[in-house]
Amino acid sequence: MRRATNAILAVVLAGVTAAGLAASAGVEKHDPLRGPVRIDEATRPLPLATTENKDVKRTRSYPMQPPTIPHSIDNYQIDRFANRCVMCHSRAKAAESQATPISVTHYTDRDGNFLADIAPRRYFCDTCHVVQTEARLELTVPNTFEDAETVVRRTQGQGKPPLKKK
Ligand code: HEC
Ligand code: HEC
Repeated sequence: MRRATNAILAVVLAGVTAAGLAASAGVEKHDPLRGPVRIDEATRPLPLATTENKDVKRTRSYPMQPPTIPHSIDNYQIDRFANRCVMCHSRAKAAESQATPISVTHYTDRDGNFLADIAPRRYFCDTCHVVQTEARLELTVPNTFEDAETVVRRTQGQGKPPLKKK
């Protein structure tokens, strides 16, 4: 019995090794962050894009998109002691700061209860909201994204408004 198990194990291991070798032979592996650069060669990172700081909001691509941040957030502290964003964006501070008040979803916990303060799952603003940059077009990743309105307009026929207006 034991010998039989060992034999099976040997066959399985041989199979795995062979598959591994076959996979590594054809495919050139590389770290997505480094790109196809050998480990002993230095990479040339792309230049950092400049943060846009013009207070001009961008169109959201779909209703639930976290809006991009139209101002710089350099050195804004967000940790367990302080949250610089809330100091302007909280409901209570919005009148004074004229910042868009944080929406009710940010005060809702995962069970749907409305809280008096920001829900923990919405505390670290920059996990969802990103600054707007002036990244040059050739640096951005190409994609074929179309927002919902464009898709609706295309499927309803050219030129028609996406939604019926009263
Ligand atoms: C000094 C006050 C202030 C601070 C601090 C601040 N904001 Fe703002 N924010 C504003 C104001 C005012 C606007 C309205 C547009 C403008 O003037 O830039 C705004 C706009 C935004 C918007 C766009 C909202 C929309 O409706 O499109 C987002 C998102 C945002 N801020 C996120 C953040 C985040 C995240 C932080 C923390 C990293 C932060 N803000 C810190 C004042 C502030
Ligand atoms: C888990 C992701 C997530 C986190 C974390 C988060 N947001 Fe948002 N935020 C969103 C999404 C999605 C929207 C758009 C839909 C909505 O209002 O919920 C949004 C909308 C907003 C808006 C626009 C509100 C409006 O009525 O147009 C502001 C301002 C904002 N967030 C600020 C903040 C600030 C400040 C923080 C940190 C305290 C924060 N958000 C944390 C996802 C997030």
